[in-house]
Amino acid sequence: MKHLDLLQKYIANLNIWNVKLHNLHWNVVGINFLQIHEFLEEIYDNVGEQFDEVAELLKAKREMPLSTIAEYLDIATIKETPTKQYDEKEALEILKGDLELMRDLATEIRNTADEERDFETVAIFEDYVIDYSKNIWFVDSMLK
Ligand SMILES: [Fe+2]
Repeated sequence: MKHLDLLQKYIANLNIWNVKLHNLHWNVVGINFLQIHEFLEEIYDNVGEQFDEVAELLKAKREMPLSTIAEYLDIATIKETPTKQYDEKEALEILKGDLELMRDLATEIRNTADEERDFETVAIFEDYVIDYSKNIWFVDSMLK
């Protein structure tokens, strides 16, 4: 049942990340503000959809998804950043680090679920990993 614990950690990360992404979305500044602002919105919209999808995946497995901010803060591996102004490069580097962290966790969940023959979780997380790789490419291209 190891991958079910990883799913709880994933849900916790999504919640902390959602707030963190809004911080960057609101407080990034620079010549490409609008593009980065909108890109961050696209990502947090997706994070919001994943949150419900993964929680309901757990419910279908008769597991109760963690549902309080206190529990999320307890186990999340995404680290919050302060409320302040972020220049574009700093915002994109923070974003890149978190995309990589989430891709690595999603990959670990996919592989652990596979070992435990849970193909439903495998199917969902393969799509997530594809999406993270695409967005990491986008951010890498913006940072060049
Ligand atoms: Fe917004």
